[in-house]
Amino acid sequence: MPTAHDWIDALGLEPHVEGGYFRRTFQADHRPPIPTDRGDRFTLTSIHYLLTRESPVGHWHLNRSDILHFHHHGGPITYHLLHPDGRYATAVLGQDPGRGEVLTLAVPGGVWKASHLVAGDHGLISEAVSPGFDFADMTLGRPDELSALFPDHEALVRRYCRRPDGPDTSAG
Ligand code: GUN
Repeated sequence: MPTAHDWIDALGLEPHVEGGYFRRTFQADHRPPIPTDRGDRFTLTSIHYLLTRESPVGHWHLNRSDILHFHHHGGPITYHLLHPDGRYATAVLGQDPGRGEVLTLAVPGGVWKASHLVAGDHGLISEAVSPGFDFADMTLGRPDELSALFPDHEALVRRYCRRPDGPDTSAG
């Protein structure tokens, strides 16, 4: 069975600012871009994304685009979602439906998201993003700002916020 290290090597993954590792696998540059209120974007982009024991957390961030997540290999990954209306939802992306794990998870644009590896050496997924990903459409969560937005979920917010200059790993 491939290890985290094997996947990083085989897929050419690099550290992601949110935590974990990634590489873009697709961008729809064979068709015209689509206009958004933040500028032109590819209609669709996709990445491989890997969480590992050493980098087990995808820290709180918000994307304007819709994102589909697909679990490929390894351990389950828990997602925490905070919706603009304050609603909290959770889901586990993984390979075992008997444990309530799902293969696919859709996260609409405008929802705050954090994720963490539940068990095992690594969890490998893909993300398909439409309109295509652009850093200008992504906001990293800051503990005080996010706690003020979601006061009922302060502990969860602070647990998975990226520390400004700290390591990109934190307790799962
Ligand atoms: N998250 C989802 N898609 C992407 C992407 O293409 N690049 C980066 N850096 N992060 C992403």
